[in-house]
Amino acid sequence: MIDFKADILEFSDTNYPAFTENDFPLDWSMTRNERYGFLYLLQKIKPKVAIEIGTFNGGSLQVISKYADKVYAIDTDKTIVERLGNQFSNVEFLIGDSKEILPKLIKQIQDNGEQLEFALIDGDHSTKGVATDIKNLIKYKPQSNFSIVLHDSFNPNCRKGMKLVDYNANKHVHYVELDFISGVFAPDNLRHEMWGGLAHIILLLEERIDELIINESQKKLFNIAYYRSIHFVKDTLFFLKPIKRLFKK
Ligand SMILES: C[S@@+](CC[C@H](N)C(=O)[O-])C[C@H]1O[C@@H](n2cnc3c(N)ncnc32)[C@H](O)[C@@H]1O
Repeated sequence: MIDFKADILEFSDTNYPAFTENDFPLDWSMTRNERYGFLYLLQKIKPKVAIEIGTFNGGSLQVISKYADKVYAIDTDKTIVERLGNQFSNVEFLIGDSKEILPKLIKQIQDNGEQLEFALIDGDHSTKGVATDIKNLIKYKPQSNFSIVLHDSFNPNCRKGMKLVDYNANKHVHYVELDFISGVFAPDNLRHEMWGGLAHIILLLEERIDELIINESQKKLFNIAYYRSIHFVKDTLFFLKPIKRLFKK
């Protein structure tokens, strides 16, 4: 039953109340709609093996850990093992940069015949960081259905990284949707910023025959928000960066 406590009803933002707080008490950096979508996918998939890139306070990990048999959680933050280590019996924490850890981990999972069925990308939010995480993950040859969920597909830098990848080159990729769950504009007083949104990539054991379409079902919403955002201003003034550097010297 939903607990409509007065203190929770005082909040009014994109994250709280989500009414998931009783079941998943750890601080979770996702909006209400993202949480519902994320929960549904994990309840449906119940992955044998999962990877999380970007753990922070364990918000998304508490859900993955509940529904997966085994989880590898990657984060650069060394304090995570101390803070969360004893809360999850099925999680192996790997501390370091996902760009270095992931290639070795994917090889290990593949060589051991482990069935990787779910991954969350929510670590390095730079364009290059997001693209590299995707490229490394889709090197895995799926043994069954493999779902990859990517957070912050509504953020222009992250979205750019998601669009840099040549998904068509990988015959096991059958579905790419950048707006699986839509993002938000100016959340939590982040003025004129675009964040959130979940993208979804599905890889299957069988090879794809047709050309793959990269879906952006909310492209119009993205464009409307982008031209009113701080990201558009920054991207437009990007050419001034070398001049700014000259003045700093
Ligand atoms: C937005 S938080 C993750 C939030 C979490 N997934 C949730 O939903 O509650 C991003 C995390 O990614 C980690 N991170 C940043 N760059 C990384 C990298 N290159 N490799 C691994 N982790 C990284 C940060 O330390 C931080 O804990």
